[in-house]
Amino acid sequence: MKKLMFLLSAVFVFTACSEDDHSENDNQPRDTAEVVGKRGCATDEVFKAQLAADPTLAARIQQIEEHASKFDLSNARLVNGQIVIPVVVNVLYRTTAENISDAQIQSQIDVLNKDFNAQNTDFASVPSVFSGVKANVGIRFELDQVRRKYVNRTSWGTNNLMKGSTGLTALTPTTKMNLWVCTIGNGILGYAQFPGGASSTDGVVVDSKYLGTTGTATYPFNLGRTATHEVGHWLNLRHIWGDATCGTDLVADTPTHNTANYGVPTYPHYSTCTGTPIEMTMNYMDYSDDRGLYMFTNGQKSRMLSLFSSGGARYSFAQ
Ligand code: ARG
Ligand code: ZN
Ligand code: CA
Repeated sequence: MKKLMFLLSAVFVFTACSEDDHSENDNQPRDTAEVVGKRGCATDEVFKAQLAADPTLAARIQQIEEHASKFDLSNARLVNGQIVIPVVVNVLYRTTAENISDAQIQSQIDVLNKDFNAQNTDFASVPSVFSGVKANVGIRFELDQVRRKYVNRTSWGTNNLMKGSTGLTALTPTTKMNLWVCTIGNGILGYAQFPGGASSTDGVVVDSKYLGTTGTATYPFNLGRTATHEVGHWLNLRHIWGDATCGTDLVADTPTHNTANYGVPTYPHYSTCTGTPIEMTMNYMDYSDDRGLYMFTNGQKSRMLSLFSSGGARYSFAQ
């Protein structure tokens, strides 16, 4: 029964995503997010395609969900108190601008370390209604190596082409997080693969114009929050609105959101979902501009850390 319920909710979550895309394009006012074009849902669209292609994926996801729901943060014992993720950066470029500098790459690693350790300066701006749930996730990222390759291609799309032999194939994805940096196109800032997928395509992709805080990083996505958001997906976080109207992100301490938020919403922004809670528009798993995103919650932390515990989908990183 539990299994059936999960599968039904999974089908709901993933089909609702594409429907939301239509309503976004039809009804949403133009704002800063729209300036870069259609930017929603690349992660979920890729995931949906993978679910359709691989009949065993849904069962692996269900196992990960059961593991996450059993995980108790208060009993967690981490390796040396902290998880450290080596990051392999795969840069694919045609133009010199796309061949971003080491400094731009390092600026992104620095943002990840701040955002996942509550060291971001805007963490202090979390509204007091959320002070009981705001989290120091406690994961560190270390730049392992940068690989660069010239390819005469103007954009790479979201079909994982950059992870194949035309691009750069993933380096030891069971112990290192691979980050591909290239021009994705279609106004998509980035996308990620959830845990449970094929290891050859495991990792995150961020467009070079939205990576880090310097060089080609472009306002309003020039504070490195695209990678923070995508790494959140890579650590099994869903969008805070659950990719459906008043949908669920499977996290208890995040409020129910009507839909994605764009720009920098004025606080308090109320949900019209059951209970009309104040939306947590500053959560990294919303779609606000980079300066409008600055927190994870304890519930999200628990989902993420459960992956590194014994039996977890990213346990190999904790060894
Ligand atoms: N649209 C992207 C995705 O979910 C990332 C959005 C990141 N938001 C930001 N303000 N940087 O795949
Ligand atoms: Zn996303
Ligand atoms: Ca929630």
